[in-house]
Amino acid sequence: MHDLAIIAGSGHERLAADVSRIVGVPCVPVEHERFPDGELGVRLLEPVLGRCAVIIQPTGPPVDEHLVELLALADACRRAAAGRVVAVVPYFGYARGDRRAGSGGPIMASLVAGLLQAAGVDQLVTVDLHAPQIEGFFEIPVDDLAAIPLVLPEIRESLPADVVVVSPDLGRLELATAVADQLGGTTAVVHKRRISGRQSRTLQVVGEVAGRACLIVDDMISTGGTIAGAVAALLKAGAQPGITVVATHGLFLPGAAELLATPAIKRIWVTDTLPQQMGEAPRRSVVTIAPLLARALERLRTAG
Ligand code: R5P
Repeated sequence: MHDLAIIAGSGHERLAADVSRIVGVPCVPVEHERFPDGELGVRLLEPVLGRCAVIIQPTGPPVDEHLVELLALADACRRAAAGRVVAVVPYFGYARGDRRAGSGGPIMASLVAGLLQAAGVDQLVTVDLHAPQIEGFFEIPVDDLAAIPLVLPEIRESLPADVVVVSPDLGRLELATAVADQLGGTTAVVHKRRISGRQSRTLQVVGEVAGRACLIVDDMISTGGTIAGAVAALLKAGAQPGITVVATHGLFLPGAAELLATPAIKRIWVTDTLPQQMGEAPRRSVVTIAPLLARALERLRTAG
């Protein structure tokens, strides 16, 4: 049995506290300081010598700040002679930078992988990585946990047997097919073209959706543009209004809630890989991934 030391980054302290409660290991107290020039200081207030240090930190907005904090915590654990440093990054910022956008550009996900390893991370635990090939940027073990199966039991009863599971772009077709297999439905895909980080253009729906109830599945909702475009395309193709949306990561950038506040969407389900502000979100439900992460930590604890 390994002695776990759970360290909560500021990216999602509530999730870290929930995981720590389930696992029965209190979080290591950490001192944070912001210097007048904006530089970050962190200090572990408890020894982690020889322990399996588990840092829980999604790198959601502000992405760079949360990433630097994660690097600082990993470096602190390594210098404090932790036996092993595990980064639990439920939402992996820069995952959409899994390839060069064009000549002259970086591959950000590869850069982040290199930074984490340079900081001393020995293993990464993440959830529904935007692109599975990101694992190939790492030399260390990567555990990519699947969150959508946690949501399906919650929504199954509200969906008709002939539901169409819709991928809002080509990237999620495999996921949509797997979900359709589980629900016993069929699949459709929306042909989307990304114009910029903020803008995408929905071209057409491929698949039979006329008169049918639809469930859209995606890995993340950021500006909400992809989902809004998919909903509009589905309605134009004759799908039933009252569409259900499931996504693992709810970033909900400013403007997204308004964009998605259409009666055509019955409910949006996300998980808490990122903190969720529920006050302003009617027709939104959140499923916690704390038990999923806790199971991953138990595996770390018992691994030989
Ligand atoms: C794209 O490849 C992703 O899977 C999501 O569909 C996309 O990142 C969502 O972003 P937004 O909400 O800004 O359209």
